[in-house]
Amino acid sequence: MRIQILKNAGEVSRAAACFIVNRISKNPRLVLGLATGSTPQGTYAELVRMHRQGDVSFADVVTFNLDEYLGLSGDHPQSYRHFMNGTLFSGIDIKPANTHVPNGTARDPNAECEAYEQRIIAAGGVDLWLLGIGQNGHVAFNEPGSAAGSRTRVVDLSESTIAANSDGRFFSRPEDVPRRALTAGMGTVADARALLMLATGEKKAEALRRAIDGTPSPDCPASLLQGHRDFTVICDELAASLLGDAARGGK
Ligand code: F6R
Repeated sequence: MRIQILKNAGEVSRAAACFIVNRISKNPRLVLGLATGSTPQGTYAELVRMHRQGDVSFADVVTFNLDEYLGLSGDHPQSYRHFMNGTLFSGIDIKPANTHVPNGTARDPNAECEAYEQRIIAAGGVDLWLLGIGQNGHVAFNEPGSAAGSRTRVVDLSESTIAANSDGRFFSRPEDVPRRALTAGMGTVADARALLMLATGEKKAEALRRAIDGTPSPDCPASLLQGHRDFTVICDELAASLLGDAARGGK
C-alpha cells in the first residue's frame, strides 16, 4: 500500500487526476472504475480541465461506476448516472456507450447486478478503480458486515449512510434518500488490477485509520482491501490525522 498525504483537498484532487491521466497515457484503452460523492468531484473537475487543455483523451477509455440507488432513473437529479454525466462525462470525449452505471430502474435488479459483473468481465476487468470511503468505512454501498468476497448485488443502506447523504449536499431530507442500492461488491472492487482511494477532511480520519491501521474486518469494509497488490491512498492532512507513524511513513 502506498499512502500519499497532501496538504488539502485541492492537492488531493490534482494528484488523483494526474495519477489517472498517467495510467491512461500508458493504456489509452484503460478500464476505469469510478465513484460518486463529494470526494472525487474535484478530481473530475481536474480531469475535465486536463482534457480541455489537451493533456488526455478518453476516446477509448471504458468506465464502470460502483453503484446506483435502486429506483432512481438516470435522469433523476440525485441518481449517480446523472451525477457522472454532469461532473465528468459531459466534459470529456468519452463515448457514452463506454460508460457503465448500474441501472437503478432495471425490472429485475438482481439480474442487473449479475449482468453488471458480466459486463466488467467482457471489458477485460477493471484496470484502476477510483474509490472514496464512507465515515463508517464503507466502500461503494458495501456497508459494515459486507463480506470480502461479495459481488455486485442489491443492498440496504445503513442509517448512518442515509444521514450522511441527506446533509444537504445531495438529498436535503433523510426520507428522500432511497433505502436500497445496487453496488459492486468488495470482491468486485478487489478484483481491479489497481485501486486508488481518496479521503479528505477530518470526518474521514477515523474511517481511514481503521482502513489502514486496523485489523482487516467486515466491520470496516475498506480495511478488507489492505492486502491488495496495487493499492494507493491519497489523502489530506485532516483525513490522515489519526494514522500511525508506520502509515505516515508509507506502508
Ligand atoms: C459512492 C461511493 C461511496 C462514497 C462514500 C464517501 O459511489 O462509492 O462509498 O465514496 O460514501 O462519500 P463522500 O465522498 O461524499 O464523502
